[in-house]
Amino acid sequence: MKNSSEVAVVGGGIIGSAIAYYLAKAGHQVDVLEAGQVGSGSTQAAAGMLGAHSEFKEFGASLYPFARTSQKLYEEAESDIRSLTGIDMERRSGGLIQLIFTEEEKKSMRSLFSSLKEVAWFDNPTVTKKVPGLSKAVSGAFHMVEDVHVKPEIACRGFHTAARMLGAGINAFTRVDEIVKESGHYLLRTSKGEWRADRVVIASGVWSNSLLSRTGLGTPIFPVKGECIAVTNTQAPLTCSLFHDQYYIVPRNNNELIIGATRVKHDWSTQPTLGGLQTVMEKAKKMLPEVDKMPFVRSWAGLRPQTTDGKPLIGEHPEMEGLYIAAGHQRNGILLAPATGKMICDLISKNTVPEEWKEAFRVDRLQTCEEIWI
Ligand code: FAD
Ligand code: GLY
Repeated sequence: MKNSSEVAVVGGGIIGSAIAYYLAKAGHQVDVLEAGQVGSGSTQAAAGMLGAHSEFKEFGASLYPFARTSQKLYEEAESDIRSLTGIDMERRSGGLIQLIFTEEEKKSMRSLFSSLKEVAWFDNPTVTKKVPGLSKAVSGAFHMVEDVHVKPEIACRGFHTAARMLGAGINAFTRVDEIVKESGHYLLRTSKGEWRADRVVIASGVWSNSLLSRTGLGTPIFPVKGECIAVTNTQAPLTCSLFHDQYYIVPRNNNELIIGATRVKHDWSTQPTLGGLQTVMEKAKKMLPEVDKMPFVRSWAGLRPQTTDGKPLIGEHPEMEGLYIAAGHQRNGILLAPATGKMICDLISKNTVPEEWKEAFRVDRLQTCEEIWI
């Protein structure tokens, strides 16, 4: 087994895969070390919405410009990756429709979205025409045309396959147990022996704490379990995602509808519960009443890597030069993968990175933070 790299990326989810892609594209010699199968963590559980508008409640802060940058990077990455690998991430136009049921919701959302030209108001006749089968209780909706979606496991496969074709090593079933700083390089103790790297990126999602705590960064990441259901759409096709109260229905190319998702803090189990699935179904029926007549395909649960202040950790360790962290992307890891991959690549390549992003995502900012509920 080859056992040295310029950059070793610990974790092969969407974040590690996107980092490997941008690094390999920029000419770095990179290896991904993944404990299990690539893409088998939180990434495969996601719905894949690129929800820069639907997912945030503040649009002046640093996370929104970062998310918009990432949405735009997807366009370029999707087409470059398709040309290189033939993989289609299933990024589809149509956007997302955030449904409004009450005057109160309409008022608060209107003031939230008032400054955003990317968000349009649809009155009841417009939204009813656009979404066949929509609940009659819907009074209107906000259309977020750029909040399109991808198929997460395929997007992840696209990033790491392209990275491999650009020279990266993708090492599945290689768990990293310890990262030790030696003079001028890092030594990684893995389940397949020792690995030497000039630089290391910890991108291990919800499982990052054990490596982070040993570098003095505490344990800032915790799981938020999300349960989902897939059904076969037997009604007219949905051309956009539907969203209400953080629950959603996302259409896939194969005519499945992905319905999600609960939010259960600090729960490490990846089995859905009947209660959780019932909640998801009730929320979906409120949007699209006919879903409960559609054939059930499967259900699953995944763990969102949540941080105590709701923003990801992206940057270099303040005391360990050459050790980088990219973890804690909670509800938005699919959305934020390209911008995170590019930011880590730019930091390693000593390219310019906006100061406000460096500050907002600083990896040592959370040790004294109170946990908040996002
Ligand atoms: P992961 O995908 O978990 O990857 C981390 C990898 O690191 C794993 O493969 C793991 O095996 C590996 N690993 C762990 N420890 C080690 C070690 N010691 N050595 C080597 N490898 C290790 N986001 C969106 O943007 N849009 C959505 O619509 C969306 N929907 C979601 C729906 C649900 C139900 C859930 C649960 C999440 C959703 N998310 C969504 C969030 C998204 O899935 C995550 O933010 C994202 O997958 C995190 O990616 P990651 O690469 O950091 O983590
Ligand atoms: N972003 C959707 C979810 O996390 O469920």
